[in-house]
Amino acid sequence: MVSITYIEPSGQALTLELSEGWSLMQGAVAHGVDGIIGECGGSCVCATCHCYVETDRLAQLAPPSAEEGELLDCVAAERKANSRLACQIKASPALEGLVVTIAPLQGLGV
Ligand code: FES
Repeated sequence: MVSITYIEPSGQALTLELSEGWSLMQGAVAHGVDGIIGECGGSCVCATCHCYVETDRLAQLAPPSAEEGELLDCVAAERKANSRLACQIKASPALEGLVVTIAPLQGLGV
C-alpha cells in the first residue's frame, strides 16, 4: 500500500492507503475525495482529475505524456508547473507520503 494525502478544495487533508498500481484518481473516487470527479475513467480526455503535486517531488513522477500535456493546456483551473492529471499517476513505493492538492475547478475551460 502507498500512502497518499489529498488536500481537498476546502483545505481539508485526507490520507489514503492506495494499492500499488492504482491511479491517484481511482483512489480518490473510490474513497469519495471531494473535488476529483474522474469522468472519463482515466482515459485522459476530461481533465476532471487536475491536481497540483508537491513541487519537490515532481521528479519522482514519470513526466506527463504529450496527451496529458495537451489536456493540461486546456484545464479550467490555473495550470501551474506542478499541474498533473491524477489518473495518469500510479501509486508506487517511490510516491509514499506524496501530497497532492486538488485544483479548485475541474474539467476543461472554455
Ligand atoms: Fe479524465 Fe483524468 S479522469 S483525464
